[in-house]
Amino acid sequence: GAPVTQSLKKIEPGQQLIVAWRSLPVFIVNRSPAQLAALPKQDPRLVDPKSDGTSSDQQPKYAQNGTRSIKPEWLVMVGICTHLGCVPDYVGEMKAEPFDPNWQGGYYCPCHHSRYDMAGRVYQGVPAPKNMVIPPYHFLDDTTVQIG
Ligand code: FES
Repeated sequence: GAPVTQSLKKIEPGQQLIVAWRSLPVFIVNRSPAQLAALPKQDPRLVDPKSDGTSSDQQPKYAQNGTRSIKPEWLVMVGICTHLGCVPDYVGEMKAEPFDPNWQGGYYCPCHHSRYDMAGRVYQGVPAPKNMVIPPYHFLDDTTVQIG
């Protein structure tokens, strides 16, 4: 499939845009300061917080870091649950849910209740085995991203 180019200019902090790439939904989020601050606090509760274990094949090398991204604020991720392939819901920040009152928000899969944080890292105790996929991407300039 061809690469997809997307302007980031109109995506406000905390907002998600979904674009199609190779028939897959790609989530692009301008993570807010609060969402970024929550990321390291989730590490003890995640299956593979550094994405160097079960999820070592789930992102390019340049996105194998604490935010799973090139620029900390911009999340670019294939929005497919690693359990059985549903599209998780973006829940944003700081929203508790019945299965885990300490959840800091992120992604919630409606099919079998898997949860992910705002870097697509999967929580322990849910059916999904891996962090969601970060596709190959790069920035053409400060406000334009190319996926693929
Ligand atoms: Fe997401 Fe099963 S497909 S939890």
